[in-house]
Amino acid sequence: MNTKTLLLALGGLLASGSAFAHSGEAVFKQTCATCHAAGVMGAPKLGDKDAWAPRIAQGRAVLLDHADYGYKNMPAHGGNDDLSDRDIEVAVDYMVGQSGGYPPVPPTKQ
Ligand code: HEC
Repeated sequence: MNTKTLLLALGGLLASGSAFAHSGEAVFKQTCATCHAAGVMGAPKLGDKDAWAPRIAQGRAVLLDHADYGYKNMPAHGGNDDLSDRDIEVAVDYMVGQSGGYPPVPPTKQ
């Protein structure tokens, strides 16, 4: 790829906004850690498997819904309106991954 093509490709990325997508860890550190690092207001702590197990058991869709729209003391989007739904998704997956992980999907019965 020559420089001109590379610049064009980068320009496309910037225009689509995807160059600003964040990793789950980055979103967590920037926004979610405020409460989820120390467990402020009853927030389940990162890595606390016992606190996360019953939450994870609700299923990924419920967790994403609560993170997107808010749930009790959990503010919608962690209170950060600059985060996209995709940022919230990767942040939730990061937290769950660090705190026990999603259960393996049972094989579909034939
Ligand atoms: C202002 C503090 C605060 C911030 C910032 C915050 N949370 Fe929370 N979060 C909470 C609290 C408190 C709860 C526990 C709510 C309850 O069950 O009572 C919670 C619960 C959750 C849950 C579990 C919901 C459930 O159904 O059990 C998820 C997932 C979550 N937060 C994701 C996030 C993500 C992702 C971010 C960052 C984008 C974030 N939180 C930022 C306070 C916060």
